[in-house]
Amino acid sequence: MRNRETPYELLLPEEVLVERILALKEKRNAVILAHNYQRPEVQDIGDFVGDSLGLARQAARTDAEVVVFCGVHFMAETASILCPDRLLPLPDLNAGCPMADMAEAREVKRFREEHPEVTVVSYVNTTAAVKAVSDYCCTSSNAVDVVRRVEGERVLFLPDRNLAAYVADRVPEKEIIPWDGFCHVHQGIRREHILRAKELHPEAEVIAHPECTREVLELADHIRSTSGMVEAAQESEAREFILATECGMLHPLRKAVPGKRFFPPVVEPLCPNMKLTTLTKVLQALETLQPRVKVPEGIRVRALKAVERMLVPHGA
Ligand code: 13P
Ligand code: SF4
Repeated sequence: MRNRETPYELLLPEEVLVERILALKEKRNAVILAHNYQRPEVQDIGDFVGDSLGLARQAARTDAEVVVFCGVHFMAETASILCPDRLLPLPDLNAGCPMADMAEAREVKRFREEHPEVTVVSYVNTTAAVKAVSDYCCTSSNAVDVVRRVEGERVLFLPDRNLAAYVADRVPEKEIIPWDGFCHVHQGIRREHILRAKELHPEAEVIAHPECTREVLELADHIRSTSGMVEAAQESEAREFILATECGMLHPLRKAVPGKRFFPPVVEPLCPNMKLTTLTKVLQALETLQPRVKVPEGIRVRALKAVERMLVPHGA
């Protein structure tokens, strides 16, 4: 379902949109959560900007009645699992994650029936229905920790085969069975794109997201979640970085680490779903509180256990 085009879409200047959004946010007792890959102007109106784990934590912690989710569908679903009483507008319902759709709950259930000894760990980039048939949920920042602490030696990791391989390399004591899913944006980042960027910026360190292929991760100086990339850039001695991730990440990095320089690979990776959210749609969502995401209660209660396990702090 596409959002209705509004006549003022083309007419209102950005500063007016921002002014209206901020006023309406106040009136509605709303907060705006934005993922690091959102358009710069959308990130700039966010009360919190972060990675999937940070957004889930913020959603669980806020006491605002309305949480406007500037991200993709599974992120708003995760918030709905954690806080069923909040209203959760997602400014464009078409903002999905193709990787999340690569695993279906009935396939996962079938796998479980055939392999009852296997523990199922789902990356947060899954539907609520898949989380409901999983034992644990994790994000890119805690996948290794979560897999290390699961009981049992055989783990089905889904849906990202690249993140599964990254985890398998770091948790050799467990057998990791990868699902055959992938993020088309990170899969599209090729080793030669990074090598070419390194030729152009020979002093630069490479920061990569673990959704990249092993061939790309081999070139990385730092492998981090999106928010982890900010910490890596702050902590490193290097002054320049090549980013093996979605290009939206350039904005929070340039804001948080203004003295350093950040470059995309030679072919710029872009997630079209992450760019569907615009200021106009955020304003519409605040005006109408539509379209909203709400996970059905039967699925929610089954998914909650796996999602809560994802939020356990590192080392706990
Ligand atoms: P992060 O959890 O690292 O923000 O990643 C989310 C995502 O969709 C990466 O493609
Ligand atoms: Fe999904 Fe990839 Fe887009 Fe992240 S970048 S939301 S994993 S398609």
